[in-house]
Amino acid sequence: MYEISGRSALITGAGLGIGRSIALRLAAEGVNLALFDLHESALGETAGLARSAGVKVAAHVVDVSDAAAVDTATADAGTTLGGFDYLVNNAAISHRNSIIEADAEHFGKVMSVNVWGVFNCSKAVLPGMLKAGRGSIVNISSWAGKTALPQYFAYCTSKFAVIGMTQAMAVDLGQHGIRVNAVCPGIIMNTPTRDMAEAEARARGLPPASERAKTVPMRRLGEPEDVANCVAFLLSDQADYLTGQSINATGGLWTN
Ligand SMILES: NC(=O)c1ccc[n+]([C@@H]2O[C@H](COP(=O)([O-])OP(=O)(O)OC[C@H]3O[C@@H](n4cnc5c(N)ncnc54)[C@H](O)[C@@H]3O)[C@@H](O)[C@H]2O)c1
Repeated sequence: MYEISGRSALITGAGLGIGRSIALRLAAEGVNLALFDLHESALGETAGLARSAGVKVAAHVVDVSDAAAVDTATADAGTTLGGFDYLVNNAAISHRNSIIEADAEHFGKVMSVNVWGVFNCSKAVLPGMLKAGRGSIVNISSWAGKTALPQYFAYCTSKFAVIGMTQAMAVDLGQHGIRVNAVCPGIIMNTPTRDMAEAEARARGLPPASERAKTVPMRRLGEPEDVANCVAFLLSDQADYLTGQSINATGGLWTN
């Protein structure tokens, strides 16, 4: 559909949820994949599904917050795939916590994965993209990166930072032919993070996400594929004049 067959992409957090959906969407386009995740068996499943679509896959168990491990895995995967045209910074963690409850350890952990992970993986692929004079990066932020959600202090802080990084990277890298955009998902069902958020909401006596569908202008909650479709477009040459943008995939729940 987007004429990106034969290109190569590194996707973080590709084992489960939205990351897996992005991997399979790009595999269906014929994009060769480097897949990073902490969760070995989930990563293996995504890799198997992508390979059955006929693309090359390099799967690595990597913690994105570990810069040295990211560098090693990126170098290995880059050798297998011949460098990277695309990077999708998707891996993140999310735990419900207010500023009152959050301690330094919790705050540091969320920032190390959600913010430092974006930094580490971007730094690892950039030398190759700069040398090639082209590339496209999509960072997965959240609507919680545009408006604060109650009791998600560290997560919201990290996702606001991802939008800031997206804009700052875009203005530095445009002249080098590298575009950087973000996707801000709304309430996306059928992912482990969403299941955990639902369980936490239940434990606190809060309404389930299904109740929220009524407040979504499109009258449905999101699916991982809704985010993956947006990522595929932003990576492709069809989005060639888009950079520094943070696109909401929220069914109209958030419009700014
Ligand atoms: N699901 C939603 O409603 C929603 C809404 C807004 C934004 N998002 C964002 O979308 C992205 C994907 O969310 P999801 O719901 O699919 O999450 P998920 O928890 O279902 O999947 C995240 C994946 O990242 C991996 N991961 C976690 N920490 C890692 C680390 N340190 N290194 C490498 N891999 C790691 C996990 O193993 C998992 O496979 C995240 O950036 C999240 O913040 C999700």
